[in-house]
Amino acid sequence: MHYKKAEEQIKKIIDKSSCILQDVVNFLCNNFMHYCWVGIYFVQGNDLVLGPWQGPNATEHIKIPIGKGVCGSAAKIGKTELVHDVHSDKRYLECFVSTKSEIVVPIKKEGKIIGEIDIDSDKIGAFTQKDKIFLERIADMLSEHI
Ligand code: SME
Repeated sequence: MHYKKAEEQIKKIIDKSSCILQDVVNFLCNNFMHYCWVGIYFVQGNDLVLGPWQGPNATEHIKIPIGKGVCGSAAKIGKTELVHDVHSDKRYLECFVSTKSEIVVPIKKEGKIIGEIDIDSDKIGAFTQKDKIFLERIADMLSEHI
């Protein structure tokens, strides 16, 4: 699916859904082949706590201290983490043996990090600048709904 079209469809979900975050997670996972597992983490105190997710398996990492793992780094620094090969990134916390690359996009409200979108892919280097730009726009759209 094209990123532009996906953004329009996600706008519609946000306008109509009564379960916005879960529906957006499902949409991303179902419409982009390289988005194998999609989840949203919420910042709660010094931790990230897993909210809605979709994928073939549940993760054991339902609570991640800010600063730990790729997710915790993105939350600490407040910048998107795009990991080409998770096995060559020392910060990486493994959730699924199949994961090869990962993108983590912070969700900010009034400059404060309130959550993040985390996506795993079974392909090395699956995520590009296009994914980054697209997902940062989606994170902005979701920020008022957290
Ligand atoms: N790999 C992440 C942990 C979350 S799972 O991918 C769902 C990390 O390194 O922080």
